[in-house]
Parts: sequence; structure tokens; C-alpha cells
Amino acid sequence: MRGRLRVPGDKSVTHRGLMLLALAEGEGRLFYPLKAGDTLSTARVLRALGAEILEEGPHFLVRGRGLRFQEPEDVLDCGNAGTLMRLLLGLLAGQEGLFAVLTGDASLRRRPMGRVVAPLRAMGARVDGREEGERAPLAVRGAPLRGLRYTLPVPSAQVKSALLLAGLFAEEVTEVEEPTPTRDHTERLFRHFGLPLEAEGRKVRTWRTGPFPAKDLVVPGDFSSAAFFLVAALLVPGSEVVVEGVGLNPTRTGLLTVLKAMGADLEWRVLEGEAGEPVGWVRARYSPLMGVSVDPGLIPLMVDEVPVLAAAAAWAEGETYIPGLSELRVKESDRVRAIAENLRALGVEVEEGPDWLRIRGGGVRPGRVRPFHDHRIAMAFAVAGLPVGVEVEEPHWAEISYPGFFQDLLGLCAAS
Ligand code: S3P
Repeated sequence: MRGRLRVPGDKSVTHRGLMLLALAEGEGRLFYPLKAGDTLSTARVLRALGAEILEEGPHFLVRGRGLRFQEPEDVLDCGNAGTLMRLLLGLLAGQEGLFAVLTGDASLRRRPMGRVVAPLRAMGARVDGREEGERAPLAVRGAPLRGLRYTLPVPSAQVKSALLLAGLFAEEVTEVEEPTPTRDHTERLFRHFGLPLEAEGRKVRTWRTGPFPAKDLVVPGDFSSAAFFLVAALLVPGSEVVVEGVGLNPTRTGLLTVLKAMGADLEWRVLEGEAGEPVGWVRARYSPLMGVSVDPGLIPLMVDEVPVLAAAAAWAEGETYIPGLSELRVKESDRVRAIAENLRALGVEVEEGPDWLRIRGGGVRPGRVRPFHDHRIAMAFAVAGLPVGVEVEEPHWAEISYPGFFQDLLGLCAAS
């Protein structure tokens, strides 16, 4: 595999950028957003709430609502997007009187929502849903909110972000404390838009905002998408791949630390900042890898990269132990199980615990893998099998976050 590439825009920043521009007053552009299943769901939902979102070539032009959404005429379908559903609950909780029903696909309707609903209710939100509000469909009736001091029981940027968004509509201060740091895109965007924000150690605070003006925003390439090509280059002998224009926010790049410890030949540089996000390039060259024991504190900084780390582990010499995986059980699929089953299908020895994986490296056999309706599983296992040949069932799942993934992957292979 040889060549340079740019990956599509960051999914987390695109969701948040669209939401904050929809909330702002006036017109703002989102440059190089991700246009894929998940973020198109966000655009659709925000349009149903009265925001105008127009396509200008690869960019979005957003005309915001100036803090007040319009009541949607129908159910809001969040598709497969957990970030959309959880952040939207925070965004709608304080829209006094506005009624909305949120649903999603079969995977999203199975995912836990109580982690957002419970603290929002403590702020005064009126939310109801299946299993007492643990699962969607969920109904929200906007209500007056009061601030809350809250310590996250599980590390989750989505929960933190939902509470910060609700805090913009609340009386008094909302403070979220996170025992383990998670991605901080919401905080960086609050600063970009001049929204109230104070950070102190592991605590972040916000409070009621008045109308705020729209501001253009450039979305960096998604590090989580870049990760597939970086690992692919490490695994295929003779490879050298450079990913350019990619976000290198330190709350997202835990994978680089782990791969380095495995012996990966990786180099990266931050060149510029866009909307408060560090952006640069990463180069990966083919490297024989060694198994490692991963520090569980790094998992929240690489939560979406564990499937592709498992692909690297399958090719490393010796054993890799990955602890701290309880959150992976409640992602788009049960990723611990999906990783274990697919590794076995490729002839890899793997042991699975409630929140850990132990993978015996040494390479994979050609085989057939199943995405389990999960974009990252589809892409990670295309990479795992790349050196020997693999058949990925239902490859269209990749389009949730990366339309054109297989073309880009094969493009780099053909260039060699
Ligand atoms: C995301 C946070 C993470 C991550 C997800 C995107 C976000 O989820 O897995 O893909 O944009 O805030 P959790 O907050 O559930 O850890």
C-alpha cells in the first residue's frame, strides 16, 4: 500500500457543528463536513426542527434558529447515530413547550439512553420512553431547566455533551466532572462560538446563553477513519501511507500511543488548528508488531479504534491484552463479541471476558467476516484480512461513517 490520502470529515465535529450552527443566529458554513449516513441523519433532523441546511458543493450552509427550534411535525428518525440521539436530547430538553419523539434503527433502539435521560430529568427535563426512558423511542416535552453538578458514572463524551447543551438553557450553572477524560470537541466548539464555558481540571461548566452569532467552521479529517489506513499500512509488507489534513486532538489519538508501544513505525505532525482542533499528517510504514498489554486509561481516548487495534493485534507477535472494554458492549454492535467472532472466523485464537479481550497474534487465515450491522467492524476486518484476502459481508455498513471506504482502500493497494 502506497500513497497519500485525505479521509472524510470528522463525524463528531460534523454532528456538533451542524447542531450549534442550527442553534446560532444567522448564516454559517460548515466546510468539509462528513456527508455519510450518521451526519445526514443529523442534517435531516435539524431541518425538521426548522433549521435551513443547504448543500454548497462539499460544504453545508446553515441558517440557524437563534436558540428556538420549531416543533417537528413527525417523529425524528436518528437512524444509526447514537451521538445524534443523545446530543439531541440535551438540545431539546430546554425548548419550553416543544414536543418531539426520537427514534432510530434497530441498533439504536437497543442502546442505553438512561445515562442521558436520568441527569437531564434531574435538571427538570420531561422525557419518557420505553423501559422508563432507557430505550428509544423517546418523547421529550421541552421544560424549564435548572443547572446540575454531575459526575459521569461511565466515561462518555456523548453524555457530557448532552448535559452541556442542555446547560445552555438552564437556570444557574451546569457542571460535569469526568473521572477519565473523553473527547472534548463540544468544549472546543463552545469556545469557537463564544458560548459560556469554564474548564478546571476534570470539571467543565456552562450556563445560560443569549442568542449568539453563527460562525464558519472547518471540519478536520476524521482520525477514526484514518486509523484504518494507518493499521493497513503497518500490516502489509512494503507499505508507506500518509494521511493528510487529519484531526490530531489528543483526546482521540490514544491508538497512536498503543501502536507505537507495539513497535509501529509511525510519525505525525500537527501543522495548523481549525476551529480549535489540531490538524496535521500521520505517516505509517510497514512494521513487524509485538503484542502488548493496553493501559485501560487509554481506552476512552481510542474507544472507536479498538476494532482496528484488534486487527493489528492479530498480526502481532505474541499476545495482546485489551482491558476496559465494557462500553464496547453497547456501541453500534456488541463490539467485544463482534471482534471475537470475526477473529475466530479468520483462525485467530481469542479469549473474551466481560470487559476484556486477549488476542493471540501470528497472522490470520483468509476467510469471511460479518459486520454485525456496524460500520467500524466492517472496516476493521477488511483491514485485518487485507494481507491474505478476506470477504466482508454487507460492506455497505461502512457508509455510516465512510462512503467510498473500499475504493480508497483499494486505491492505495493498486498504487503499489
Ligand atoms: C462520540 C463519543 C463516543 C464514540 C462515538 C462518538 C461523540 O461515544 O464512541 O462514536 O461524538 O461524542 P460515548 O460517548 O458513548 O463513549
